[in-house]
Amino acid sequence: MRLFIDTGSVAEVEEIARWGVLAGATTNPSLLAKEDGDPADIIRRICELVDGPVSAEVVAKDAKGMVAEGRALRTLHEHVCVKVPFSAEGLAATRELTDDGHPVNMTLVFSPNQALLTAEAGATYVSCFMGRLDDISVDSTQVVSEIVDVLRQSDTETEVLAASIRHPLHVVTAAALGCEVATLPGKVLKQMLEHPLTTSGIAQFEKDWESRPEFGEWLA
Ligand code: E4P
Repeated sequence: MRLFIDTGSVAEVEEIARWGVLAGATTNPSLLAKEDGDPADIIRRICELVDGPVSAEVVAKDAKGMVAEGRALRTLHEHVCVKVPFSAEGLAATRELTDDGHPVNMTLVFSPNQALLTAEAGATYVSCFMGRLDDISVDSTQVVSEIVDVLRQSDTETEVLAASIRHPLHVVTAAALGCEVATLPGKVLKQMLEHPLTTSGIAQFEKDWESRPEFGEWLA
């Protein structure tokens, strides 16, 4: 499963891109609204930091407006993938954009039926929101599992992108269910680094090495 970062923060992308694990990024209007600066500039800068697709969302409500915004977003940088919210208008816009060769990430998908429609419209990614399902006491594991299953039975290349990831367990669940991608907040990516045995193991190695000062500047 490939990992994307879900953020509007250029600094956060800069910090985590150094790890060499990011295959892409996703933004949304809420994430960009938290940031200072021009959203188009932020998207461009994230695209320069990440060697992969960077989802940037349209805000128009009708298909015509979504298509126009999607085309404009695609001129910002070659990495831009047009993010379109799920709706009848969104499906029509997705069909038009994908027919023109633009990659589309359809977002706010919460059911297998929505995912099937998304795939039929030709989207590159279907973003299934795990955290928001759990928030309303709907088991996200069950829904994502059904979405992966129904798309595998269909003749589609649409990839399942696990979104609204709130904790590291969501990431492992998404990978185990066969999602092709998960998009994670920087906080969750950092939580994935942590294990108490790693921390104590490093401390022990340091202590033991320092107990032999005669080693000096080894390999220097
Ligand atoms: C995905 O692309 C969305 O930006 C994101 O995962 C939304 O997550 P949230 O439910 O934590 O806002």
